[in-house]
Amino acid sequence: MRDAAPQTIHLTDYSPFGYRIDKVALTFRLAPHATRVISHIEFRPNPDTADRRFFLHGEGLRLISAMIDGQPVTPEITPEGLTCTVPDAPFVWQAEVEIDPAANTALEGLYMSSGMYCTQCEAEGFRKITYYPDRPDVMAPFDVRIEGDAKVLLSNGNPGATGPGFAEWHDPWPKPAYLFALVAGDLVAHPGEFTTRSGRKVALNIWVRPGDEGKCAFALESLKKAMAWDEQVYGREYDLDIFNIVAVDDFNMGAMENKGLNIFNSAAVLASPETATDANFERIESIIAHEYFHNWTGNRITCRDWFQLCLKEGLTVFRDAQFTADMRSAAVKRIADVITLRARQFREDAGPLAHPVRPASFVEINNFYTATVYEKGAELIGMLKTLVGDEDYYRALDLYFTRHDGDAATVEDWLKVFEDTTGRDLSQFKRWYTDAGTPRLTVTEDWKDGRYTLHFEQKTPPTPGQDEKPPRVIPIAVGLLGPNGDEVVETTVLEMTEARQSFTFDGLGARPVPSILRGFSAPVIVERETDDAERAFLLAHDTDPFNRWEAGRALARSGLLATLRKGAAPDQRYLDAITRLTGDETLDPAFRALALGLPGEDELAHALHEAGETPDPQAIWEALEGLRDARAEAMKTLAPTLFARHQVTASYSPDAEQSGSRALANAALAILTRLDGGAAAADQFASADNMTLQLSALSCLLRAGTGDEAAQAFYDQWRGDRLVLDKWFTLQIVNARPDEAAALTEALTVHPDFTMKNPNRFRAALGALAANPAGFHHASGKGYALLADWLIRLDPLNPQTAARMCTTFETWRRYDKGRQNLIAAQLDRILATPGLSRDMTEIAGRIRAV
Ligand code: TRP
Ligand code: ZN
Repeated sequence: MRDAAPQTIHLTDYSPFGYRIDKVALTFRLAPHATRVISHIEFRPNPDTADRRFFLHGEGLRLISAMIDGQPVTPEITPEGLTCTVPDAPFVWQAEVEIDPAANTALEGLYMSSGMYCTQCEAEGFRKITYYPDRPDVMAPFDVRIEGDAKVLLSNGNPGATGPGFAEWHDPWPKPAYLFALVAGDLVAHPGEFTTRSGRKVALNIWVRPGDEGKCAFALESLKKAMAWDEQVYGREYDLDIFNIVAVDDFNMGAMENKGLNIFNSAAVLASPETATDANFERIESIIAHEYFHNWTGNRITCRDWFQLCLKEGLTVFRDAQFTADMRSAAVKRIADVITLRARQFREDAGPLAHPVRPASFVEINNFYTATVYEKGAELIGMLKTLVGDEDYYRALDLYFTRHDGDAATVEDWLKVFEDTTGRDLSQFKRWYTDAGTPRLTVTEDWKDGRYTLHFEQKTPPTPGQDEKPPRVIPIAVGLLGPNGDEVVETTVLEMTEARQSFTFDGLGARPVPSILRGFSAPVIVERETDDAERAFLLAHDTDPFNRWEAGRALARSGLLATLRKGAAPDQRYLDAITRLTGDETLDPAFRALALGLPGEDELAHALHEAGETPDPQAIWEALEGLRDARAEAMKTLAPTLFARHQVTASYSPDAEQSGSRALANAALAILTRLDGGAAAADQFASADNMTLQLSALSCLLRAGTGDEAAQAFYDQWRGDRLVLDKWFTLQIVNARPDEAAALTEALTVHPDFTMKNPNRFRAALGALAANPAGFHHASGKGYALLADWLIRLDPLNPQTAARMCTTFETWRRYDKGRQNLIAAQLDRILATPGLSRDMTEIAGRIRAV
């Protein structure tokens, strides 16, 4: 049974565990409905504390036997764990429990996916495997013995003895329980090898179900690149003889960094040109790198408690972004990351779920694997690097790795390393970790006697539980352009520390045009009175690729807002500027493809809400359609030219160059489809020999309302491939018209290929509806009711995924009274559901409370 009133956990309540563990030995006797887990754990009193309470977490376990130093004991058992009287000296705890992996639909703990056993222990899943102090500051070396009839039996660390029906593994590196992993199944390996720079040979394997061997090569190459990159850039070497990656179909997130045995959502590993898009390949490369980089930032140095989650996640996201920037285009990666940061993190920060990068309390930790912890957490690392400079950044990281290797560390430890390296006081910087909300940076300027002054004012709006926000240190990268477009002041980082602050530039011949927050040097919202002429000027001349893109985006956005507010026709200045920019063959095609992207429906709704207006989702959809039509008209000659010129003739590779060309050609195809009624898209669909081309053609046809036949053909071709079928679900829903989206989603949820047990499939349908704002927010309320129905159904099976999807409702206060009432009714219905999970109770409750 679930708690009646879920408990809130507070950062300030931290206290160390009363015992340390010298060794853990686990034996698993696998059986789908009755797996036995036999544990041998060597405890000794922790000299750092006098607290001698002995509490072991454990949930849903059937205790068969328990012994201390070989003597049977009878612990006191609750739904959360057990307590027991123990000696005030080192002792051995032994227990045998029984669990039911085949009945585990939550995908947390030991569960079964497509006939194989696998685990997910972060954050608190190990307690569903055996009784243990399931907290990240308790670290121990693990020996594991697996008994079962599967062909492949894997766990963390290095392989030990094997024989018919068993395998042993030894992990010499002390680790917290959340990094434990076990996999057993009839898997096949795509093998490889890597030699570290000190000459250690590491066996690499990508383990998949038979039939998927042909989709592993890219993941393996990505892994090798990541291993080499971490040596070159951070001086970090791998530390075991073997590195295993396993692909599983049923997984709540992207992937998991278990020591030496990463477990991946198959969508984040498997790729072939026929079945995966360029975007899929890039995502695989970055997730493989992310999980690999955790070996140092997360595993060797872990978190003291879950409040410190950003310590490993923010830093590791930052590292994987650096990796992608180095492997591909730094400018394109930065722009793409800021698009997601604004779409997900700014949205979160502006609503009922806003929380600091290091939260001070939580009810369910699984609800805090958020855009704020991950993406804003990564921005904080980037700001630190900007503030101290590259050299000191890497010196600080070296100190971090030597000082804290083997530790369960805190944000304070992290900042201290930078303070000790640079002599800087980072107490003001720390506010970025403790204070929620996105700062507004208002900029005004003065020009007098050759002296140019920029005045900044910072203000952060209140967030739930935090009314006052003192000023933070903000690194503002600025450059100045002269009237003819030359750069007269190169990028300079202004360090703002006050609520209001001015910076002066002398000796300029003419009033410059400022390029502010270059490279998006801080996660803030810049507000400045400017006009479209200046935006067009920056779009043409800025040397900073991010701000150049930003100028185009701002231009598109101001035109769209004018349409929404005053019914203005599509902005000619934008149409001229974007046509000139996209036709400029000196520019990177990938950059041009990004520049063709328009502000999303959600971004526009957010902008209107910020301005105190009430967004109308249908009107936003129409404004965007109107702009797309006008743009097609303006690009009547350019679109076919671009489409033809950027066809890739070489054999398929997912590299940056080819994917950039395809991205631009496909953007041109979308424009062309508005002009030719879908003829070019139909041709491309028929002739495509890779998924990037096939899918973009299908998307164009669906959007044009002429995609039914192609969708059927796509289904017939790919019905046997789960990952491709997910795309089929998603594409139809995201391209549906506002008044049809909910009904189509509903129809697809009764399709024989729909199942709510697979999170990818669930997201492919219901997540796609959420990604179609005009459809989801249709005034009928049908979208709201459908999502709520499915969340209520999913919650008892998989509360983690249900709660995550419930965040779709977080923007509800933006909308008109009618929509607010409809959403409130659905949230109340969810909250009134008997036995609702802690995950959903927290999320739906926090959303409803505003
Ligand atoms: N640590 C994982 C990562 O970021 C995240 C993760 C994977 C996760 N599976 C999870 C978090 C399940 C919570 C629950 O790489
Ligand atoms: Zn991570």
